[in-house]
Amino acid sequence: MSEIVSDASNVAACVSNTVAENVTASSPIGVFDSGLGGLTVAREIMRNLPNERIVYFGDTARVPYGNKSKNTIVRYSRQIVRFLKTQNIKAIVIACNTATALAIDEVREMAGIPVIGVIEPGAKMAVKATANKKVGVIATRATIHAMEYTNVIHRIDPEVKVLGQACPMLVPLVEEGWIHDRITDEVILRYLDDLLEHGVDTLILGCTHYPLLRSEIRKLIGDKITLINPAYETAIELGQMLEEKGLSNTTPRNLSEPHPYRFYVSDDAGRFTDFANSILPVDVKTARIVPIEEY
Ligand code: DGL
Repeated sequence: MSEIVSDASNVAACVSNTVAENVTASSPIGVFDSGLGGLTVAREIMRNLPNERIVYFGDTARVPYGNKSKNTIVRYSRQIVRFLKTQNIKAIVIACNTATALAIDEVREMAGIPVIGVIEPGAKMAVKATANKKVGVIATRATIHAMEYTNVIHRIDPEVKVLGQACPMLVPLVEEGWIHDRITDEVILRYLDDLLEHGVDTLILGCTHYPLLRSEIRKLIGDKITLINPAYETAIELGQMLEEKGLSNTTPRNLSEPHPYRFYVSDDAGRFTDFANSILPVDVKTARIVPIEEY
């Protein structure tokens, strides 16, 4: 089922004034991604911060971000933030590695509320986990080229060797539902070959779709390598950040509350809800379509 959210006119102009005044600890968290993948981050927030409300935006009309330029991703991210800020959100989670790598500074600059991306939490955990100081990162081309995982890791420990591998074919395979499939296995092994050869002991799943391949990757590489799921680390760090800022929702949610989680997309709401229902612990009945180019 889909529904159009109309009349975006003038929203951008009035957001920052109105929103800041109305925000409380019970306001929702704005979560956004290029499409479906950020649902792995939303899922971790639902599991680990069950009192929190979420407004999710998936840019399904313009996915993938992973092969686009910085300018484009910054423009898309700004439009999404303008839309999310119309929803009286108290914080923003950039649930997309590519948008985090290329646009987090610009999002922080304009947001006026706390912003967290997926890269820093994942990078921090990788530094803690590695014993031999060799960390592998698998991600989209744009994320690998932006080197943000490397930069964050080196700020913490310059001695850690970070090896990046772009894996552009994995996103379409996940979206096709080919998760336990020998073709996907072959692709994973081909991509991981070099990293394994270099002896990484820690591997960051640096794209929001990859946590869905976690058990398949684990099966293929054995149990000697620590897998880092930035989606989980982000939810944990989000909880700490909300607490520090006095924005944690400590009131248990009324289970009969009709819409603690709201979903918006820029296209193809039906495919989005099918995917959401296949991975989320809640029933997603509708996703509303937003004309995001108007924001
Ligand atoms: N969500 C993106 C990421 O985590 C992957 C999909 C895309 O390329 O847009 O990098």
